[in-house]
Amino acid sequence: MNFKLLIACCGFLCGACVVAPATAQTDSPGKGLKDYYKNYFPIGVAVSPGSLKRPDASALILREFNSITPENAMKMGPIHPKENEYYWKDADSIVAFAQRNGLKVRGHNLCWHEQTPDWLFKNADGKLVDKETLLKRLKDHITTVVNRYKGKIYAWDVVNEAIDDDSTKFLRNSLWYQICGEDFIIKAFEYAHAADPKAVLFYNDYNTERPEKRDRVYRLLKKLNDAGVPVDAVGLQAHWSIYEPTQGELKAAIEKFASLGLKIQVTELDMSVYPWEKNMRTKKPGENDTYTPELQAKQMAQYKMVFDVFRQYKKVITGVTFWNISDRETWLDDYPVPGRKNYPLLFDTNLQRKKAYWEVVRGDF
Ligand code: G3I
Repeated sequence: MNFKLLIACCGFLCGACVVAPATAQTDSPGKGLKDYYKNYFPIGVAVSPGSLKRPDASALILREFNSITPENAMKMGPIHPKENEYYWKDADSIVAFAQRNGLKVRGHNLCWHEQTPDWLFKNADGKLVDKETLLKRLKDHITTVVNRYKGKIYAWDVVNEAIDDDSTKFLRNSLWYQICGEDFIIKAFEYAHAADPKAVLFYNDYNTERPEKRDRVYRLLKKLNDAGVPVDAVGLQAHWSIYEPTQGELKAAIEKFASLGLKIQVTELDMSVYPWEKNMRTKKPGENDTYTPELQAKQMAQYKMVFDVFRQYKKVITGVTFWNISDRETWLDDYPVPGRKNYPLLFDTNLQRKKAYWEVVRGDF
């Protein structure tokens, strides 16, 4: 294959060379995912305040993406560490970066069972709070955070991962559920809508393409829809792998949720090179974690398939966001297997475009 050496010299990446397959040689050096998909939907990425301060990472973000999501900075624990104390610095820095560069921002997230602050579920005596107290705390949190970013954040992941991992159960038995029952979900959306009626409000979850999870998420969303709860959209987190979902599973999930009249976004896309595992485990003796040509080929095929489907459903898909920027730093390193490297994204550890990138942008646009 003859390669044309494509010199991409950006402000911060001056002199960096990107070697692209011949098929991409006609593209301008500064063209990124957002440009290829400008007639489809915004392409986003989850970021940390630190990544925005690194010249190479921020240059890649600005070349490739037109939307960002705070990976952790806006979660309850990081942004509201004490009942009467908010920590705005990190979240503000991300929103300010977006404002300076004309990027959209997805707020993530207003109500989750993980990364909650220690004070949230407890009284002064250390006992669990009652439903009224917890809902008032939730209302104060959502009202304060959503109001602060009104007009700067267009969409919020309001409730995250409320469906149980056990397919024989419905809602996750979180402290939210134990104390409030289903009402915490309804109230979270009502509080968010009251704070910013223009914001697009998402229910966000993972494994939504597996029929047993898909159907339980659908059951929740239909119940909320029928009750007139202001849920506008569903976030398919898309923490996928080279082994799942199939094209059929993906299409079925999109069509099922769209049948409720909901908009859909892919909110946390990455493509692990290992099968899905939920629980932490130790690395098996001799377990290999190199990015082999076979894994690369499978990842190319899987990324091509999912983006072909996304483009087919552009009428209902209103955004696709990757979870983390590159293989240099992914939440899937050491999770759930400490010491194991993963390669789930379109940019390698040197922030260069992988072959899977060209499968995503070389389509019937
Ligand atoms: O900031 C603290 C730091 O002060 C401390 O020294 C360090 C060691 O304890 O922890 C740091 O916090 C970590 C945080 O990431 C920021 O790096 C937390 O321990 C760690 O648990 C947290 O992990 C995040 C995880 O959500 C929490 O469950 C991942 O970065 C983040 O990518 C991941 O994202 C979630 C989405 O929000 C929801 N969907 C699933 C997705 C993957 O789990």
